[in-house]
Amino acid sequence: MGYPFLFLSKISVPGFLDRNMIFRKAGITIRAFEMPVLLYAGENAFRRAISRLLQKQNAKRVLYFTGSRGLKTVPSFPERESLTEAVFPVKGEPDVQMVQEALRFTGDFRPDVIISIGGGSVIDLAKAVSFLAGDENDIYYYYDHPNVLKETIPHIAVPTTCGTGAEVMANAVIRREDRKQSIRSASLRPYAALIDPFFTEALPLNVLIHSALDSLTQLIESFVSNQANLLTDGICREGLRLFQKGFQVDRLSSLSAEERLDLQTAALLSGIALSNSRLGIVHGVASVLGGRTSMGHGEICARFLRPFTGKNIEKAKAEDEGLLEKYREVACILGNRPDLSADDLPRILGNYENTLAKTKLTPLSFSEREGEEIAEASLAASSTQGNPFRFTKEEVIEVFSSVQQS
Ligand SMILES: [Fe+2]
Repeated sequence: MGYPFLFLSKISVPGFLDRNMIFRKAGITIRAFEMPVLLYAGENAFRRAISRLLQKQNAKRVLYFTGSRGLKTVPSFPERESLTEAVFPVKGEPDVQMVQEALRFTGDFRPDVIISIGGGSVIDLAKAVSFLAGDENDIYYYYDHPNVLKETIPHIAVPTTCGTGAEVMANAVIRREDRKQSIRSASLRPYAALIDPFFTEALPLNVLIHSALDSLTQLIESFVSNQANLLTDGICREGLRLFQKGFQVDRLSSLSAEERLDLQTAALLSGIALSNSRLGIVHGVASVLGGRTSMGHGEICARFLRPFTGKNIEKAKAEDEGLLEKYREVACILGNRPDLSADDLPRILGNYENTLAKTKLTPLSFSEREGEEIAEASLAASSTQGNPFRFTKEEVIEVFSSVQQS
């Protein structure tokens, strides 16, 4: 079965590039929309595109950022023999110290191009290094000075999970002391991203489940976000459709290349959508819990998506018919039936959540006082501001206790 090889080149809409500009047509408001990343998606996308991308940059020296398997993860390609290569292995989530080490390594090697092959942590570290290399300011300066545009080392991102969308996002999450914090700039976006199911062949089941459910959360939250627009809606619908095709709950450990590519493309679309709309309360909670517990981002999204979506649907019933219709649409796409209602969605999400039984869950326990603090911080988090409805602290705590008991 041939999956179409997509060449999605420099998607940007002329005239929409000024983020402050409001475009109004037929009553529809679309804020700025941008995606200046060369995107290649399909079977063998890496082999088919990498030579051309390296030639365009006249690359002689290539620095790879990879997980623990190092250069074993890099498939051969004809021009590789003439390259001088080095590898920086990434262990765990990136923090300030890891960025500093990687910058020293990069300064010594002086690469023409950076290629990251990994999950969100590997890609985010490579984004930070591509952005900060040769800069007299360090990362602390950019925590406090977002949206600075600058020259970077060209970076080609190759995701190896089914989630995050880091390959198209204009931020890099780097742990700073006791919290996770992003540096933000459009210049952090990679030069190109290659979405190839070859790289998800040996994906451990728990990483597949957590990362895919993260991308599902991103698609649903972007779709109902208070900044959603015509373009992000279309992207989310297609992403949800691909997720439904790819996430086969009864045989997740033996998905076909086409199904894995569906999930990878759904994740890519979630990254494009959330970059141009906003997220919601699940990601608000994830940003706080991710800094305070050892629970990974994907696992947090996977465990909190159903209960918070249930509460959002209850609020939509009382306050917003348009949003209720959007939740109904999500139910119909994910349930693959045209006659479902918004009330069916929590049940469908419950079926996805049940796949967590195949993974090792991180214990979640905190005192009443900690729960209150986490709830308050979650409500103030940036992602929560994109949620279509307001939550009270008590409602958030109620969800916390239901997740702790499940
Ligand atoms: Fe996420």
